This record gives sequence, C-alpha cells and structure tokens, in this order.
Amino acid sequence: MSKILVTGGAGYIGSHTCIELLNAGHEVVVLDNLSNSSEESLTRVQALTAKKLDFVEGDILDQHILDHIFHSHRIEAVIHFAGLKAVGESQQEPLKYFDNNISGSISLVKAMERAQVFKLVFSSSATVYDEANVSPLNEDMPTGMPTNNYGYTKLIVEQLLQKLSIADTRWSIALLRYFNPVGAHKSGQMGEDPQGIPNNLMPYVTQVAVGRREKLSIFGNDYDTIDGTGVRDYIHVVDLANAHLCALNNRLNAQGCRAWNIGTGNGCSVLEIAKTFEKVNGIHIPFEFSPRRAGDVATSFANNARAVAELGWQPQYGLEDMLADSWNWQKNNPNGYQD
Ligand code: NAD
Ligand code: UD1
Repeated sequence: MSKILVTGGAGYIGSHTCIELLNAGHEVVVLDNLSNSSEESLTRVQALTAKKLDFVEGDILDQHILDHIFHSHRIEAVIHFAGLKAVGESQQEPLKYFDNNISGSISLVKAMERAQVFKLVFSSSATVYDEANVSPLNEDMPTGMPTNNYGYTKLIVEQLLQKLSIADTRWSIALLRYFNPVGAHKSGQMGEDPQGIPNNLMPYVTQVAVGRREKLSIFGNDYDTIDGTGVRDYIHVVDLANAHLCALNNRLNAQGCRAWNIGTGNGCSVLEIAKTFEKVNGIHIPFEFSPRRAGDVATSFANNARAVAELGWQPQYGLEDMLADSWNWQKNNPNGYQD
C-alpha cells in the first residue's frame, strides 16, 4: 500500500476519499488551507476509520510547504481536490479563481516534478463539456467554453495537464469529470458543509428540510425535460470517493493523461429530487418556481461506460440512498461541522 498526498482533503469530497483510502490500507497526507473546510472533518475521518492521517495546514501555492511534504514523506501519488468552487464568486473575482485553481495546480505539479512524483488524479467537472453536446455525455465529445470562470479553470487545468503529459511521458494523470456529487457518509457524521447560502441544489434542499431556509426556489420549469425542470446526474459522494481509488490503481502502470466521467448515467429532474426527498425522508419541502438561472443547461448526464470498463468502477448507490444519507448528515449536524 502506498502513501497518497490529498490536497483539499478536509473538504467535502476529499474527506470522504480519505476514509476510503485509509480503509483500503493507504497512508494519507492531507494538505489543506481550510479556506472552505474545518479540521473537524479530518478528526471524524480518523475516528470513523480508527486510523491516523497526517494533516498539514497550508496552501498549494506555497512551494516551501509542498517541498517539505515531499521531502518528509515517500509520496507515491497525489489526489488533487484543492480548489475554489463557488460559481457566482468566480464571476465576481476571476483572478482569485485563476490564481487558486490554475496557478495552484501549476504550483503542485512543479513540486511533484521536483520530487519525481508523476501520478496524479485531478478533480475535473462535467462543466468542461461543450453545451451543444447532447446527453448522455461521453469523453470523446468536444469540450467547450464553460459559462463561468470556475468551469473555465477546470478546462484550463485539464488542458495544461494533457500538454504536460505529452511533453513528458513520465506523467500518468487521471482527469475525473464529476457530475453532481451529493449524499454523505453512512455514519451521518460527515457530509457537505457549505458556507453561507448554498449555491447547489442538494444542500439547499437539506437546509430547507432542517428549517434553516424557508423554501426551495426551483430555477426554471419551462425546460424541454420530463417535467420542465433541470435534469442532472447525481452521484453519491462515497461512489465518487471510490472512483478515485480505482483511478489511482489504473494509473499505477499507465502513462499519459486520460479523462473519465464519474456519474451514474441516470438523469434526474429538480422536481424528482424534491419529491423523492419527501418520500424517502417523510419531510415536506416547500418550493416555488423562479426564473431560470443564468448559465444553466436543461439536461446533463453521463455516459459512464468508460469508467466502468477501464477503471473497474461501478456506482453502488441509487437516488434514495443519496437523499437519505444527505438528510441523515444534515439532521445530525444542523450547522454542519460547527455543531
Ligand atoms: P470543498 O470546498 O469542500 O473542498 C475543497 C478543499 O480545498 C477545501 O477543504 C478547501 O479548504 C481546500 N482548498 C481550496 N483552495 C486551496 C489551496 N489553495 N490550498 C490548499 N487547500 C485549498 O469542495 P469539494 O466539493 O470537496 O470539491 C473538491 C474538488 O472537486 C474541487 O476542486 C472542486 O472544484 C471539484 N468539483 C466539485 C464538484 C461539486 O459539485 N462538489 C463538482 C465538480 C468538481
Ligand atoms: C453547478 C455549476 C457547475 C459546478 C457544479 C458543482 C452553474 C451554472 N453550474 O452545476 O459549474 O461544476 O454546480 O459545483 O452554477 N437548482 C434549483 N434551485 C437551487 C439550486 C439548484 O432549482 O436552489 C437546480 C439548477 O437549476 C439545476 C439543478 O438544480 O438544474 C442542479 O443545480 P446545482 O446543484 O447548482 O448543479 P449544476 O447546476 O449542475
């Protein structure tokens, strides 16, 4: 088993991935500046697994910290979650996003090169696909120009990593294009803990359920979809976490850079989410229809055949699990990790 550096490991997806890594017998070093997370998530990771990890509080832009980590640990591969992800903020403060997400990724791979560590799994997003593609989206479809600066940083980093791996064949890089991560660890002790008003659907729904928000606004009910509301591919965060372990395995004896969609392959509408949440959890979710949100597409879901065939990965959880687990986390921790 190997030692893995997890950047952004205190965050939502990173912390769930740390659990799966530790349970699989890997050693884990987390580098996180806690800009959108708290160390409490890592305390819970260690309690739930009864295993220790090394935590370094610091920034991926800090070359000294990176060099220090690579000198003090025999890191075999890096899973790179660290990044900013608030779409609205990325429109108001593009440079913050370019610096953190793009320069931060360059800083990381430079340090990896110095340390002769060439295996990398990168958190990309389905947002890199051209809007004109018709779902199910597959990895051979063209990428486009994302409608927001956050998405743009993902596209740029994908392209930089592709070019890097062509120029230097020692690199072995997995680009995981996440669809819509939701759900939480079965224990109810870990989950998504957004700061401020959630931008994304699922934390908004659970905050309505717990009484922190009055009602859900459904952005648009006149799309060309099953019921007029937007359709997405929701994926359980534990399935997503396990995809990273599969990608690591795949990269151990491979060269180059390859992209994989990580979604279930099922499209689900906003109304279906609200109604299924009510049915599974027995809680009423008041909602109103409001205008479409700028930058939204009607439908986005994955063709996940490449990940299933090449990574040996298979999602285990369905929509009802995702909604039950999201609620289990929120009701046990109404104020997230602050409780
Ligand atoms: P998150 O905000 O919960 O986790 C990101 C972590 O990175 C946080 O703990 C934050 O403190 C840390 N971080 C940010 N900038 C850093 C820096 N410069 N140095 C060190 N640490 C830094 O987000 P998440 O939902 O867990 O997302 C993880 C990754 O997956 C991100 O790169 C995100 O863009 C990507 N992604 C997320 C989604 C989603 O819907 N959650 C979808 C597609 C892609
Ligand atoms: C959004 C981002 C995308 C990012 C992803 C993960 C936009 C345009 N896209 O994707 O770049 O990679 O989050 O962070 O912001 N919805 C409501 N009411 C709400 C919230 C959402 O109706 O309060 C609807 C949306 O219109 C959409 C669906 O729910 O149809 C899912 O929205 P969301 O969770 O924000 O994810 P995406 O829009 O797919």
